[in-house]
Amino acid sequence: MSSPSEAELIHMFKGIPFTIRSSPELLKSLDTFDAREDDVLLVSYPKSGTHWLAGVTAKLYNTQVTLTSPIEFGDISKLEELNKLSSKRIIPTHLDYNMLPLNFKKKKCKMIYISRNPKDTAVSMYHYYRDNPNLPTVDTWTAFFDLFLKGDVVCGSWFDHFLSWEEHANDKNILFLFYEDMKKDLPKIVKEISLFLGLNVSDNDIQDICKKSSFSEMKSNTEKENSDPSHTVCALTSNRRLIFRKGTVGDWKNHFTPKQNRRFEEIFNEKMKLSKM
Ligand code: A3P
Repeated sequence: MSSPSEAELIHMFKGIPFTIRSSPELLKSLDTFDAREDDVLLVSYPKSGTHWLAGVTAKLYNTQVTLTSPIEFGDISKLEELNKLSSKRIIPTHLDYNMLPLNFKKKKCKMIYISRNPKDTAVSMYHYYRDNPNLPTVDTWTAFFDLFLKGDVVCGSWFDHFLSWEEHANDKNILFLFYEDMKKDLPKIVKEISLFLGLNVSDNDIQDICKKSSFSEMKSNTEKENSDPSHTVCALTSNRRLIFRKGTVGDWKNHFTPKQNRRFEEIFNEKMKLSKM
């Protein structure tokens, strides 16, 4: 059986490629979503550490919370499904700031944005594409590298996504985090998240959460679970091995040629001219 074509897997919405798992009807109706003041949003460009952040954040609460699948995944019934949840909602999303449902902004819901070196993000996404039947086929790293730089991948351009959120990095209700900082000193970042969320978490509990959130722990735990992909942080695969791949900083060095690195840097410097980070 031949694999589905790109057109069968991807559609464009407001100039951004989405998989067919995000229905156009749902995307069109996002602005009608009824946000609650206590919703917490976990925001990322794909492959930036969303599952890691979600794992940590959910463990910080000692009250009942529901970690949902990304708000943009599913069909129109998704909004109703989220509406019905009676517990506090932790909602992941890969949407850029401009597409975020208006009510999250109006209600000043807390949002945590996690970012990662785009070179490592690109490599992580390449492996994810390669082994995921829900995404178009990519033959080589070289081909994927070009697509990534053009923003011709799910969720569009890394640069546009980052810049749309960076503009709001100083908003009081937004916490900006970096994957590399989590790798360097997880307890420090977990503490920062807990303070941002207004939670009183003891140092002992923070240590415990960090232990349970290590790459190896999370990988082996999810391999034991048999979760329904439509109810997990990434609804694009039920193969958890695709999510917990290597979990390192600097894997790009094993993929980028010197020429690709120069090209990436040039485009990075040009696109990020206005970035303060
Ligand atoms: P790699 O493909 O480089 O290994 P997302 O959750 O946004 O899809 O991001 C997935 C990336 O985060 C993968 O990167 C994955 O290995 C990494 N990751 C997931 N959990 C992690 C953890 N506990 N510690 C470090 N990295 C983690």
